[in-house]
Amino acid sequence: MKIGIIVYSKTENTYSVAEKLQEKFQENGHEVEIERVIPAGEVPPRAKNVEFQSKPELKSYDALIFGAPVHAFSLAPPMKSYLEQLDSLQDKKIACFVTKGLRFNWTGGNQAIGKMKKICESKGGKVVGTDIVVWNKSKDQKIDEMIRKFAVLF
Ligand SMILES: Cc1cc2nc3c(=O)[nH]c(=O)nc-3n(C[C@H](O)[C@H](O)[C@H](O)COP(=O)(O)O)c2cc1C
Repeated sequence: MKIGIIVYSKTENTYSVAEKLQEKFQENGHEVEIERVIPAGEVPPRAKNVEFQSKPELKSYDALIFGAPVHAFSLAPPMKSYLEQLDSLQDKKIACFVTKGLRFNWTGGNQAIGKMKKICESKGGKVVGTDIVVWNKSKDQKIDEMIRKFAVLF
């Protein structure tokens, strides 16, 4: 299966998780590419309709994993705009994850995942898994757990 890991990452935490996911899926025999969502310039905290320097094209992938940070108690605007601007995710299998700094999932994690799921489903995608990684001292354990959970989805 060809899997695209589509990531927005401002300070590289989310990207580092994407690399670990890529390694695991490759071990399992999948073809896996990481592609970055890159906004054009600085993005204000609650920006709408972000413009992009780079917008990954998804047609060639059988399955997708979207990853992004939580910003201002919700999904980081570049990922929100990117997902909103996609034409179709019809029948694609999708997993979504976010990384965040604050301990509790209600400080933006649940909101961000809810948004990703809702937008993906509105474009015809099938969201089969989601997870939230809090960037604290237990993060490596949490990332391993998420990778094990996602590895059986595709
Ligand atoms: C502008 C900004 C806003 C943030 N807002 C939140 C927040 O509301 N809740 C939270 O848990 N973490 C918040 N964080 C922390 C990030 O979500 C966390 O550091 C994340 O892992 C960063 O991912 P990245 O390195 O891929 O950009 C914020 C970080 C930034 C830079």
